[in-house]
Amino acid sequence: MKHLLLVHHSQTGSTAALAQAVLDGARSPDIEGVELRVASPLSADAADLAWADAVILGTPENFGYMSGALKYFFDRIYYPCLEQTQGLPYALFIKAGNDGAGALASVRRIVTGLRWREVQAPLVIAGEVDEQALAACRELGMALAAGLEAGLF
Ligand SMILES: Cc1cc2nc3c(=O)[nH]c(=O)nc-3n(C[C@H](O)[C@H](O)[C@H](O)COP(=O)(O)O)c2cc1C
Repeated sequence: MKHLLLVHHSQTGSTAALAQAVLDGARSPDIEGVELRVASPLSADAADLAWADAVILGTPENFGYMSGALKYFFDRIYYPCLEQTQGLPYALFIKAGNDGAGALASVRRIVTGLRWREVQAPLVIAGEVDEQALAACRELGMALAAGLEAGLF
């Protein structure tokens, strides 16, 4: 079994709705060889990353940055994981009010330092969580899980 870790944070629920769609996609019945673990960035740690063969990160944009919770995750795991997680495949989804660029840049700066590999284009959902946004998130989850199962990453 391959291991896929989803770390996401939501303050008012919209990133959580996107995360549920990502999970639904990753749990597609066609994908049988991937075990999923969902963790809050407030509690996820280096052991979760050691377990993971790939990681999906989800955050709202707050004040032109990733959420404080996701930043706290990176603060805690950066040095413990710096050597061991190089090359880790990751994907990112962001829920923003109207932009998302600051959150995207802030995550990319840190994962570049960690040398994680961006294996899917980041998904930035600005505005309403509508069916199109949920479908894009399901697609993201499915693509990560299917790619992991197939040994693409
Ligand atoms: C404190 C705070 C700061 C925010 N800053 C931004 C921002 O800089 N850019 C933006 O596009 N949206 C911003 N927003 C809007 C949120 O990104 C948006 O409401 C998002 O859907 C919240 O996600 P959540 O429901 O998962 O908490 C901010 C919201 C809050 C509460």
